[in-house]
Amino acid sequence: MSNLRKNRILTLSAAGVAAVAAITGAAFALAARADSGAPERAVAVLAPTQGQKVHGQVVFERKGSGVEVVAEVEGLAPGTHGFHVHEVGDCSAPDASSAKGHLNPTNEPHGARDAAKRHEGDLGNIEADASGKAQAKLVDTKLSLDGAQSIVGKAVIVHEKADDFTTQPTGNAGGRVACGVVKVEAKGR
Ligand code: CU
Ligand code: ZN
Repeated sequence: MSNLRKNRILTLSAAGVAAVAAITGAAFALAARADSGAPERAVAVLAPTQGQKVHGQVVFERKGSGVEVVAEVEGLAPGTHGFHVHEVGDCSAPDASSAKGHLNPTNEPHGARDAAKRHEGDLGNIEADASGKAQAKLVDTKLSLDGAQSIVGKAVIVHEKADDFTTQPTGNAGGRVACGVVKVEAKGR
């Protein structure tokens, strides 16, 4: 074998090793991301506050740069109901006042979900039909499932009345009819 050919084979081998190393590195990076504790999915199971019969579930799932929110709620009065993430994951008070105010880590005013400035927890309203059932599906780009602004461990609240998107800092949505803490789902593995 000529020296030239030998060198070429060595060069190709080196390139091959580098490629394998790069792929392995990427695989490790992916595995590290999966195990970094950044959740892909979290769920809040909504239970009624005192005197109410509102039940439901809200699933939060990472979708691209946003979080998909899928809510299914029943037992509501027909009509429009404020729907927020509140800052304390504590639904223990009979009126869920223990969940405190809207989640607002960036200190913004209260607003509609599509407002330029709003609380992170401002998810607008849900609409209950004549049978008291409400369903909502949306992707929100302000919600976060990890880091300093994570909604995990916070509380989802459904209100008695509509959020007017104007009244500060609550939206004047009245009492709290259901509450549930946002929890990361156990991984199926
Ligand atoms: Cu609220
Ligand atoms: Zn708010």
